[in-house]
Parts: sequence; C-alpha cells; structure tokens
Amino acid sequence: MSYALAFSATAPAELWAEAGAAAEALVAGEPDGIANMANLAALIWQAIPDLNWAGFYRFDGTELVLGPFQGKAACIRIPLGKGVCGAAAVFRETQRVEDVHAFPGHIACDADSRSELVVPIVVGDRLVGVLDLDSPLPGRFTTEDQAGAEALVARVAATLAG
Ligand code: SME
Repeated sequence: MSYALAFSATAPAELWAEAGAAAEALVAGEPDGIANMANLAALIWQAIPDLNWAGFYRFDGTELVLGPFQGKAACIRIPLGKGVCGAAAVFRETQRVEDVHAFPGHIACDADSRSELVVPIVVGDRLVGVLDLDSPLPGRFTTEDQAGAEALVARVAATLAG
C-alpha cells in the first residue's frame, strides 16, 4: 500500500470516486477505527478542494466527541441534536448546509466556515459518529459532493467502528 496519494480528476463526481477508491485501499485490513479516521481525514483534506476543516466526531454512547481531523482546533463535545453534526447524528441523515449562519443552532468552531456537509457513520444499527466537512465558501457542497461523501463513508464505515 502506497501512502503517496495523488488525485487527478477535476469533476466533483470523478474526484469523489477517486477519493473513495483511495480511501477503501487506505483502510483495508486495519481494524483500528481511530487510525483509519486519521488517515481518512488527511486523504479528504488533500483530495477535496476548498475545505477549512475535515474530520470526524465519534459517538461515545452519549454524545459526539472530537476525533481525528485536519484544520483548526475545534469544539470537543457536541450533544446529540445540537448543531449540524448533532442533527446528522440524531436523524442519521446527511446534513448539507449551504449557509451555516442560517442553520438554527450551528456551532461555529471556526469562524471562517460558511457551508458544511455532515455524513453520519452507521454500522448495522450502531451510530459510530459523523464525517464533518466545512468550507469557507458559501454553498460549497453540491448534491454531487453529498453523494460522493456518502459513497466514501459507505465504503469505509465498517473499518471505523473498531
Ligand atoms: N459546525 C459544526 C461543529 C463542528 S465544527 O464545524 C468542526 C456543527 O454545527 O455541528
């Protein structure tokens, strides 16, 4: 397994497909969920343009707790139902927010964030956590980004549960 990742696609759907394939290869055979989240945060940060934060919150059975990420230091604990991450976790549905200032209860960890995409990570019936992507650009995340991020999470989710 090479750790020298390179991404060549420019169209979002193709870029996410490349990132998803690279993600699956990166975590293959590794059972440590935190190690895999760390590598995936780095991979997404490298592959996907115009992000100011990319990483994970892990569900500890009560609330979301900050996991591996790239970007500025962030809030550590998020109760279920609070903010964009808490909404994704409690509804177990992706939250694609074009304008974070218009989202009731948005938690501003980084004042630069303008739009956000949060994908829940569910394995079987178990909520493992969420993948959180933030951008300084309003409306940065399209339905193609949502589909790509959801597909990436689906490919690696089982390796994040350990
Ligand atoms: N904005 C998120 C909090 C996490 S930070 O963006 C890293 C939210 O509202 O849940």
